[in-house]
Amino acid sequence: MRSNLLVVSNRGPFTIEENNGSLKCRPAVSGLVSAVLPAVKKIGGTWLAWAGRFAEKPGEVQAVIKDEFQFVEILLSRKEVEGYYEGYANGVLWPLCHLMPEKVKLSEENYQIYREVNYKFAQRAAALLRSGTLLWIHDYHLALMPHFIRQKNSWQRIAFFWHIPFPPVELFTIQPWAEELLRGLLGADIIGFHIDDYRENFLRAVERVLRLPVNYEWGTVYYNGREILVKAVPIGIETKNFQKEVPEIPEIKEEIAGQKVFLGVERLDYTKGLKEKIQGFARFLESNPEYWGKVKLLQVAVPTRENIDQYQAYAREVLAEAAKVNERFGNNQWQPIKILKRNYSQEELIYLYRIADALVITSLEDGLNLVAKEYIASKKEPGVLILSKRTGVARQLGAALLVNPYSPEEIALKLKEALEMPDNLKKKSFSFLKEQVILKNNEWWLENFLGKELRFMDTGFGKYYR
Ligand code: F6P
Repeated sequence: MRSNLLVVSNRGPFTIEENNGSLKCRPAVSGLVSAVLPAVKKIGGTWLAWAGRFAEKPGEVQAVIKDEFQFVEILLSRKEVEGYYEGYANGVLWPLCHLMPEKVKLSEENYQIYREVNYKFAQRAAALLRSGTLLWIHDYHLALMPHFIRQKNSWQRIAFFWHIPFPPVELFTIQPWAEELLRGLLGADIIGFHIDDYRENFLRAVERVLRLPVNYEWGTVYYNGREILVKAVPIGIETKNFQKEVPEIPEIKEEIAGQKVFLGVERLDYTKGLKEKIQGFARFLESNPEYWGKVKLLQVAVPTRENIDQYQAYAREVLAEAAKVNERFGNNQWQPIKILKRNYSQEELIYLYRIADALVITSLEDGLNLVAKEYIASKKEPGVLILSKRTGVARQLGAALLVNPYSPEEIALKLKEALEMPDNLKKKSFSFLKEQVILKNNEWWLENFLGKELRFMDTGFGKYYR
């Protein structure tokens, strides 16, 4: 039986490309997708999302793909993508929520397009809703959508999960649209964040901006005669997907031969602290010449949001920073940094995780960071996790080597500590980390955030798994 769940997000499980009249689907690269896909596969239902195609050719029709669940595509025009996705969501909300106000580009026109696109998503979703459907909306791209749905149907059950940090109210209100955005989110019945800090920041914003009564302990807000529940439940991964056997990647094996490996896996996003990681690595090499020729930083750098100027500039800066370090410390036989600038499949990533002596995460601000969990889940032998204190996941994975990403000295020290950690200590901290990742897996997240709602979906009672 297909369940009565409707998931809506900007980026869906696939990107679709049209080639001579036939459609080609590719798995999408996104933290949101890796978290939500196992849940939707388990529960079934429908997923409505943009798949990267533009609605510009006359007669273009949205694709509907039926598999373990039904995928329904929403088409957007180029102008809509520029205003809603690149302009407001990624030009205002993304930097504001990641505490980088200097990167914010306010534009009334872009915000109005964001509004219109949220309304369009709401209309498409409304057409797919049946009695008893649970609507689950995701992320900062669609903050106004719960309100638009609520306007049409006051009885609709709506869950919302916010996947990135939620900033302190002082930052959130730099944008003139803060009030409308909060009212948009409060159209939902249950709102989820990864960690308590984000949940509290949201509640404080609701209290200050909307002057509504808020209960911090229970996480409840009363609004328009409804009680809204606000929870902090960090996403978990489907750990069994990372335990499989995978083939080697010969060119990587050759690249790292005889060396210790520091691994990084990030999108080329300025919040990820890639430049800081490279600078920290340079500081490490500077003060530890005995490691020259014996260690390598393998950095997967996945191109992302390439139409946005800031992202193009950032990608160039990261490559230049790496080239500088290679020139300074490298020679014909050895280059300390290898940038792998493409997307890697899950199988390839598992191989990279397994060959890495340490995973190095230096995000300047990060909602959670699932890569940390994937590394721990994939490894058969204990490895070291160097983890930015400024990630949501640092609250769960306190047994990692925590680091301030703004300090190259601290990064350098942690790199050395990782290489020289005694085996018994490595084993102990790794087993703490593994226990957390396995215990708080994807099913745990789903049950704790949405279990009650899912049980009441469809029939009012009963089990939600197919
Ligand atoms: O939640 C933030 C997020 O949307 C994640 O799903 C994902 O990791 C990343 O940002 C990808 O962004 P985009 O969909 O813009 O490529």
